[in-house]
Amino acid sequence: MSDPAPAGHPGGELRSLWLATAGTTSFPPLNGVLEVDVAVIGGGIAGLTAALALKRSGRSVAVLEAGRIGTGVTGHTTGKVTSLHRLAYTALEQTHGRSVAGAYGRANEAAVEHIAGVVEAEGIACGFRRVANYTFAERPESLPVLRAEAALASSLGLPATYTADVPLPFPVAGAVRFDRQAQMHALLYLQGIARKVAGDGSFVFEETRATGLRDGTPVEIGTEGGTVLATDAIVATNIPFGDQGRFAEMCRPHRSYIVAAPVDSPPLDATFISVEDPMRSLLTTKLDGVSYLLTGGEGHPASETVEPASRFANLADYAQSRFGAGPVAYRWSTQDAMPRDGLPYVGPLTPDSRHAFVITGLRKWGLTNGTAAALILADLLNGTPNSWASFFDSNRAGRPVAGTALPAPDPGEPAPAAPAAATSLPVEDLQPGDGMVVEAAAGSTACYRDDAGTLHTVSAICTHLGCTVGFNQAERTWDCPCHGSRFTVDGRVIQGPATRDLPPRPAPAT
Ligand SMILES: Cc1cc2nc3c(=O)[nH]c(=O)nc-3n(C[C@H](O)[C@H](O)[C@H](O)COP(=O)(O)OP(=O)(O)OC[C@H]3O[C@@H](n4cnc5c(N)ncnc54)[C@H](O)[C@@H]3O)c2cc1C
Ligand code: FES
Repeated sequence: MSDPAPAGHPGGELRSLWLATAGTTSFPPLNGVLEVDVAVIGGGIAGLTAALALKRSGRSVAVLEAGRIGTGVTGHTTGKVTSLHRLAYTALEQTHGRSVAGAYGRANEAAVEHIAGVVEAEGIACGFRRVANYTFAERPESLPVLRAEAALASSLGLPATYTADVPLPFPVAGAVRFDRQAQMHALLYLQGIARKVAGDGSFVFEETRATGLRDGTPVEIGTEGGTVLATDAIVATNIPFGDQGRFAEMCRPHRSYIVAAPVDSPPLDATFISVEDPMRSLLTTKLDGVSYLLTGGEGHPASETVEPASRFANLADYAQSRFGAGPVAYRWSTQDAMPRDGLPYVGPLTPDSRHAFVITGLRKWGLTNGTAAALILADLLNGTPNSWASFFDSNRAGRPVAGTALPAPDPGEPAPAAPAAATSLPVEDLQPGDGMVVEAAAGSTACYRDDAGTLHTVSAICTHLGCTVGFNQAERTWDCPCHGSRFTVDGRVIQGPATRDLPPRPAPAT
């Protein structure tokens, strides 16, 4: 995904700054049959945190990662390690009550400290540093909600204050401030964890996509190259692969965009998110001698069709006008699973599961939510009581049961996406860098023309549950509007829940 920017675009390399500066791991793929105590499917922050915790407690583990460690959502994050999640406490108290808001806060605070502890104990060089984190307002009329959030969070025992003193280079009315938060290069953190997991009877396998899971004694996980037999299995693939548990329907995929642009000033000792819309999430960092400002935002449900180039351009304008940032160096987007009731799902994969577990619904705050979720599961698997487990229980009320209708969408949620309409344009008219879905004799066909003029054609039918994919021009990917699966222009799965590639199709006749 590193093609040149289309005309009129803010520019920069279409790649996460974190991926561009981390190098890569090279663990082998799984071949043959392996027996371990715990199989962990997914090498993101949730899966690897669980794997390390379980290994530390004496269990043998095998991590199965479809691509390379950390290159999923975690490698495309902003990098804030914090329990201040914009206005989460006000929202959680209103929806679930004070005890749930408190448990959420304590679990996320514990996650910040767990990450700090892992970095230190394992000697992981990932730029982890303590910073304050702010939710800020530019308009005085927004201050009451900030004061309320600060007061509530403080009463829940969190390190919260309200302040009018905010270290931003433009006028700000006030903010909620959380002390002793952090930021890090999350990809380097995960690569460091993976190196600690592998060895002494535990394993990390890359380029090993799980294609099936059969709960039982043992749990059996199938991959293209082999099978893992495990006492317990954890599905930590962001949105669970396949359709077990129906979490793909319960967690709406939500996309956001980030641009990284150089700035003259050294990194700030703080990270920020705006309370007003359009929401802007801000982090500064220094990598390879260059200070960067990361500006994130422009989020929308993945079911919405948008013009991504303008999203990047809006972020670039903000970085330039507010911080005097230079031309965009890197730009990227990613999507995360938003749970319908605002709480992650952690626990049994299905209501009947005994040995298959899931982590999902990390609501765009997964560096801490994913860490907390992993520690909950490690406790569950070890038979250790965990006081947060019941709040995040994947079997909580509202979970759909196979064969029943889903709950009504949240108010204001866009209607489920209709299948993308096939175009009537002759495929010859397709311009380099563009894609379209064509109704052809072989069925709906996703057609993409590369910069050299070569046509790439694959099935347009998502291999998860059969929706029609649409072309994402900014990133040159085929994206499914239903549950968020993404594919390369040659049909390879980038992001699940799909596990199978889009099969090749002949070029449509005109
Ligand atoms: C734009 C944006 C900015 C964000 N910024 C922040 C932030 O600053 N702070 C914060 O706390 N959170 C942030 N988040 C959220 C956070 O990054 C995510 O919640 C978190 O990284 C998700 O971790 P994960 O382990 O669930 O998923 P992933 O990191 O995606 O890991 C899942 C892994 O599973 C693998 N996989 C998928 N299917 C299979 C299969 N069938 N077999 C084997 N492997 C498979 C994938 O390749 C992937 O590597 C942000 C989210 C977005 C969208
Ligand atoms: S992601 Fe579910 S149908 Fe495509």
